[in-house]
Amino acid sequence: MSEPLLRVAGLSKRFRRGDITIDAVAGVSLDVHAGETLALIGPSGSGKSTLARLILRLIEPDAGSVCFDGLDLLSLRGAALRAARARLQMVFQDPHAAFNPRATVGRVLADPLRIHRIATRAGRPAAIARLLETVDLPAAFAERPLHDLSGGQRQRVAIARALAPAPKLVVLDEAVSALDVSTRRRTLALLADLQKSHGIAYLFVTHDLAAVRLIAHRVAVMDCGAVVETGPVRAVVEKPQSATAQALVAAQPRLPARSEAS
Ligand SMILES: Nc1ncnc2c1ncn2[C@@H]1O[C@H](COP(=O)(O)OP(=O)(O)O)[C@@H](O)[C@H]1O
Ligand SMILES: [Mg+2]
Repeated sequence: MSEPLLRVAGLSKRFRRGDITIDAVAGVSLDVHAGETLALIGPSGSGKSTLARLILRLIEPDAGSVCFDGLDLLSLRGAALRAARARLQMVFQDPHAAFNPRATVGRVLADPLRIHRIATRAGRPAAIARLLETVDLPAAFAERPLHDLSGGQRQRVAIARALAPAPKLVVLDEAVSALDVSTRRRTLALLADLQKSHGIAYLFVTHDLAAVRLIAHRVAVMDCGAVVETGPVRAVVEKPQSATAQALVAAQPRLPARSEAS
């Protein structure tokens, strides 16, 4: 098999809170291949968000390596890091917290176009309209303030923003978890379509196994900062090996896997 797009090896992060130390991520290794979706599941507090933040270099690890698109991500600085970051985007659970809610949709989408020098000032309105079209929102939305939008629409804007620099990998941390069931399904379908048309890989962090079945190809299961199981969705869902995966599967209602549905 070809080199993975993302290779995480021995990644560790310890937090100190007063006298207590928490090994939030303890020697995690995993691969994400180009164009695939790896779901990262695990109970609350198992270290999923910390791992995502380490990969995105929002926080620095104590040990380990992150190789992305052939680059040693942890050694990059300045312009080289900015260039790598363009190809490694993120979508969080709560776009309200990520963006100024009074900003217009157009403003939110203009930022990455300017920062990554994707469109000239004159070309920006057309580029913004194209991004909105990509996530099935009308071009007129550019004028609307974010707080005017529904949760699902705001999350589409967050996805459009992540897509602006044509990323190879998007890390989604509980990105659809706050949405109601039908909006969540539509957003997952949109993400799957975008993956097909753009060849994007996803690291899809969630505690929701139903979402995993709809969007993921492979799953990594985390518990207490460690990856305790990795495998294709169907294997992990139908024959979970670890106690952690067995408990997660037992807690979820039965839904068809992506491969069965398509
Ligand atoms: N900035 C921080 N300072 C101290 N402890 C933290 C910090 N961020 C996360 N933790 C702790 O690390 C562990 C893993 O948290 P997290 O990565 O958020 O888990 P998950 O996303 O799987 O729910 C938890 O025990 C959490 O309390
Ligand atoms: Mg989390």
